[in-house]
Amino acid sequence: MINHPEFPNLFILDHPLIQHKLTLMRDKERSTGGFRTLLREISLLMGYEITRDLPLTTERIDTPLTAMDAPVIAGKKLAIVPVLRAGLGMAQGLHELVPSAREGHIGLYRDHDTKQPVEYLVKLPEPEGRVFIIVDPMLATGNSAVHAVDVLNRHGVPDENIRFLALVAAPEGAAVFYAAHPKVKVFTAALDSHLDENAYIVPGLGDAGDRMFGTK
Ligand code: URA
Repeated sequence: MINHPEFPNLFILDHPLIQHKLTLMRDKERSTGGFRTLLREISLLMGYEITRDLPLTTERIDTPLTAMDAPVIAGKKLAIVPVLRAGLGMAQGLHELVPSAREGHIGLYRDHDTKQPVEYLVKLPEPEGRVFIIVDPMLATGNSAVHAVDVLNRHGVPDENIRFLALVAAPEGAAVFYAAHPKVKVFTAALDSHLDENAYIVPGLGDAGDRMFGTK
């Protein structure tokens, strides 16, 4: 995991398997089914990396041989919060890793003219003492990402309890996000070159939602 020198809250997940799978996903010839499978797999690997600092406590259990105090994750169950709809594919991979995690949803779409996020659905688990992982594959302008964290803040979740997981980020979005929520750690597989005039990440992978669901 590499901490980016320009954005102190940004971490690049440089595991070879993550990098390899991202390359397969970027390829425009990748089928919808292939893209979806890879998204699930890469999210699981990314989830493994970003949960390595979760605090542990111990629980008294009986093995077939003896009693022992065995390590278990402390605190309330994790909450995975996909930003609809592209975040859904990533949430699936994380659930395979942490089956007991709760799942909230934040429904946002990007207004094509203003490029600003418009909120249409918010459903979240109880916030108290819980770590929330927001998932959205593309951190592009940063507007939706900032908005999603604002929604959690409004719901009573402090920045310290929030992590943001993106597949690919643009420097423009990373800067906007850092300015708004410097305490929220952002994890991504790649920090790409720039945004184009339509706010797509370059080189990126196109529209993540369309590629995952086979829409246009
Ligand atoms: N959303 C996407 O799906 N792709 C981009 O490149 C930018 C935003």
